[in-house]
Amino acid sequence: MADNKLIELLADGEFHSGEEVGALLGVSRTAVWKQVKKLESLGLALESKKGRGYRVVDGLSLLSAEAIRSALPAGVSESLPVLDIFQVVDSTNTVAAAKSPGVPGYRYLCLAEQQTAGRGRRGRVWQSPFGRNVYLSLVWQFSSGAAALEGLSLSIGVAVVRALRDAGAGEAQLKWPNDVLYHGKKIAGILLEMQGDPAGICQVIIGVGVNLDLRGASTAEIGQPWNDLYSVVGKVDRNRFVALLVTHLINVLEEFSRSGFAQLREEWGALDAYRGQEVAIHLGEQMLIGCAQGVDESGGLKVDIDGSQRVFRGGEISLRSMG
Ligand code: BTN
Repeated sequence: MADNKLIELLADGEFHSGEEVGALLGVSRTAVWKQVKKLESLGLALESKKGRGYRVVDGLSLLSAEAIRSALPAGVSESLPVLDIFQVVDSTNTVAAAKSPGVPGYRYLCLAEQQTAGRGRRGRVWQSPFGRNVYLSLVWQFSSGAAALEGLSLSIGVAVVRALRDAGAGEAQLKWPNDVLYHGKKIAGILLEMQGDPAGICQVIIGVGVNLDLRGASTAEIGQPWNDLYSVVGKVDRNRFVALLVTHLINVLEEFSRSGFAQLREEWGALDAYRGQEVAIHLGEQMLIGCAQGVDESGGLKVDIDGSQRVFRGGEISLRSMG
């Protein structure tokens, strides 16, 4: 693992000489070079210049539990007793699941600078380069079983869009069930996983990945059109963005716990990127074509197919024009 102290020193984006780094880490200049190489293996853009030393191009806005807490409204911070920040994990959802003991009312929030096995929906990989995006998992408990959770993943989409819009991405939208798009390209993804009793008390692990800045990342593997907040509004303070996101997540979860999706349906509808468009619905091997008509009170997708309305609760959609 790369040295935390070295990452923190280079986060300012300025050059630091080999002597300075060596003194900080208490190692020789050769050992410094090895540490810098380790940082490069995290995918960070490093520059080394003779006579000046090393720097991380553009610097890094590192995650800090303190900075996040100080940007959270007091009530929200108090409602989250545990907030862990990790440097590198396989998946924050896996970490959160392991940390969730099933105690009534238990809440847990964690974030990581990098995921080595970030998971997307339908077994896809979620690209998670170091230090530039948001990878967050929040554990929330529900007491009325899995059936009452229909519409939850759509509700979380509303929370993520609220945060993006507050951060300046005013045209962020949703694609059923919960892809977050900016100008038709994916900017954030949501993965809900459940554990506990599907008929009673269960914990939902709410995983959210937001592309804040994908410059320099190996985006060829993303496999779908993507966007990042950097392309929309430039650099953002990650801790402030996380605080915005967490605040909206908690507010939406509380709204959802009180009144379910019904309360959020109108807002979801206003953010629907595909409403009125011709879409292809993919159900395993089968594909149907119809006109998207928004969502029903529990979050199912309404589609007009040959003049009759059908409601879909699973599957994927794509714009007909994009195949
Ligand atoms: C999608 O395919 O749209 C869902 C992507 C979800 C990614 C987030 S990043 C934090 C959390 N940990 C994971 O492994 N996945 C989710």
